[in-house]
Amino acid sequence: MDSFKVSGPTKLSGTIEVEGSKNSALPIMAASLLYNGKVVLNNIPRLKDINSMISLLESMGALTQFENNSLSIDNSGLNSFRADYNLVRKMRASFIVLGGLLARKGRAEVSLPGGCAIGQRPVDIHIKSFEALGIQTNIKEGYVYAQTSDINSNEEQRVELEFPSVGATENLMIFAAGRNQTTIINNAAKEPEIVDLANFLEKLGAKVSGAGTAFISIKGFDASKESPSETVFNHDVIFDRIVAGTYAIAGIITESHITVKNVNHDHLKAFYNVLEQIGVNFILKDNEIEILPNNILSSLNPVNLTTLPFPGFPTDLQAQIMILLTQIKGKSKIFETIFENRFMHVPEYTRLGAVIEATSQSASIAGPAKLKAAPVMCTDLRASAGLVLGAMVAEGETMINRVYHLDRGYEEMEKKLKKAGLKIERVKE
Ligand code: UD1
Repeated sequence: MDSFKVSGPTKLSGTIEVEGSKNSALPIMAASLLYNGKVVLNNIPRLKDINSMISLLESMGALTQFENNSLSIDNSGLNSFRADYNLVRKMRASFIVLGGLLARKGRAEVSLPGGCAIGQRPVDIHIKSFEALGIQTNIKEGYVYAQTSDINSNEEQRVELEFPSVGATENLMIFAAGRNQTTIINNAAKEPEIVDLANFLEKLGAKVSGAGTAFISIKGFDASKESPSETVFNHDVIFDRIVAGTYAIAGIITESHITVKNVNHDHLKAFYNVLEQIGVNFILKDNEIEILPNNILSSLNPVNLTTLPFPGFPTDLQAQIMILLTQIKGKSKIFETIFENRFMHVPEYTRLGAVIEATSQSASIAGPAKLKAAPVMCTDLRASAGLVLGAMVAEGETMINRVYHLDRGYEEMEKKLKKAGLKIERVKE
């Protein structure tokens, strides 16, 4: 497995461009299953997780072509309703092919997922919600077997999620879009990626209202009867708000003047709110965040923050903000409410010299800590980004092992950071 060698401390400069959103691209790719023809998706990041979803779709008969961030998927030859363990285990998001397969084929056999080891991450909400919509499900030998009972009855269907799970909302939306009836999802997730998915489903022919609120209504089309079509649907996925936040923190933690480009500010309000509380100097331009050169870490303030579903502070930026807080004078506190085991980076940060006390749901960070280079290990995707940020301020050469996690979710991170002035090398295994 590859490693990164990072020399710190360092200053960055220039503009860092954010890529398309992985978490938007994956469900939209899964939603292509509804369409008996070709879709072209643009702004798709070149990442391992995207390749995993491509392999999964291909294993079920899709034809794909991926060039220059543009991905075409032709599902007219879809010949399977089984998502195999060997492919699904690589990435939890694979489970969202369930909705598309069910709508298109009337049945699905999808392996229970793997993915980052952040908490148990069950799929019970997905399954209970499909059952509430009249789907028969059965879990056997690591697979979920699901079958529609009366395909496309015209009655309105309603389902209420016990928690606004992002993946469950997406799975249900895709299913609902492929059924010739109206489905109402209550207590839905409100993340920007949900809105992007809704926009794509509308292009395919569904009528979606309320995406981005807790109450989504979808009038679908009958994906099981759809005849092959010559029309090619095009969609540009949104930019990645988590990558944008990560690079903004890179500028702040290194007291640098940088611009982060391709940012939708509406997606990052809770993050900006925390930066304001800390006292960071930054300017928001059209689609850019400019981190101003006058941010002196010793003059910033500690903060208490809680991760929450959107529009709250994203759990996917928790590890990155935590490493910044290690550099700020005073005691900060982070409450993690989305995942029950998302502080696995704390022991690795401690190896760099951070002073953090963590329980399973909260962490107290005492700053400023003088960070020093040490060999560290990536534990999950966002924690890996946190280690790269830590290595930028740690004195000496930090060896970050197992960066395959980063390759799952950040497009060419080392090239972008190198261009901005970081001394970073990929060490091939
Ligand atoms: C998505 C994102 C991930 C992000 C997360 C929360 C993708 C590909 N991934 O993951 O980066 O960290 O949203 O913003 O978009 N849960 C259950 N049962 C279920 C489903 C979820 O208990 O059936 C729990 C999970 O274990 C977790 C919480 O609900 O504790 C949130 O999960 P969910 O919103 O579903 O996240 P994902 O869709 O997996």
